[in-house]
Amino acid sequence: MNTVSTLLQQKQSGDKITMLTAYDYTTAKIIDECGVNSILVGDSLGMVMLGYENTLPVTMEDMIHHTKAVSRAAKNAFVVADMPFMSYQVSVQEAVKNAGRLIQEGGANAVKLEGGAEVCDRITAIVKTSIPVVAHLGLTPQSVNAFGGFKVQGKNLAHAKKLIQDALNIQEAGACAVVLEGIPAKLAEIITEKLIIPTIGIGAGNGCDGQVLVYQDMLGLTTGHIPKFAKCFADVGNLMRQGIQNYITETKSKSFPSQEHIYHIDDEIMNQLKENF
Ligand code: KIV
Repeated sequence: MNTVSTLLQQKQSGDKITMLTAYDYTTAKIIDECGVNSILVGDSLGMVMLGYENTLPVTMEDMIHHTKAVSRAAKNAFVVADMPFMSYQVSVQEAVKNAGRLIQEGGANAVKLEGGAEVCDRITAIVKTSIPVVAHLGLTPQSVNAFGGFKVQGKNLAHAKKLIQDALNIQEAGACAVVLEGIPAKLAEIITEKLIIPTIGIGAGNGCDGQVLVYQDMLGLTTGHIPKFAKCFADVGNLMRQGIQNYITETKSKSFPSQEHIYHIDDEIMNQLKENF
């Protein structure tokens, strides 16, 4: 069973942490059985499951619904649920209440929220209720409008310094790990060296303590823009297309369903049926 402590031990021993997103029972079960350390029920579900342009429309109800399905499947992975846009920004009280719902109703082991110094009071308050918090710095998708698009962060000196300071601040506030997204690899390395807590990178190079990917990106299921960092490890998308084409062809040609896929009835009963009708 993966926990906050095992993730920390992995950082200390240099054993890289693996994290993948999942949003449904079937996928989460496969990921869990493969031995991935942590499953993130990301608010990226707004884009990859619900078809929104960004993560901003995702609600607490969406997150709880999908987190429940993933938690039922995860027997070993550490389940982290994203706090959606506006579920923690308004007040510390709301942040604590909504974090609690993701644990109590969703069954998650931890919550994740985006931001640095500005969310430290939220992190501390949530951690005080015994809920582990994963922070998220760099290209934080809920700030897409403020950033003017999905752009790599921390490329100039002032911004890079701010990210390092933010990382130290969220650690001080009580975060148990931090996702570093869309920042230069060398900056992520410095942050990883400076922190005691694990860093989990996405588009942040291989100097982080672990990696996270959106599963659709790494299995060739993403259509449209595919980010530079998203390596396709298996082309499941094309395998699905091939399978669906085979189904259409065999159904049209009546070769499906064949004998092995149908239920049988005794000839005697059939004869009686035919006599009666
Ligand atoms: O929502 C998400 O899937 C995420 C990852 C990209 C880290 O936050």
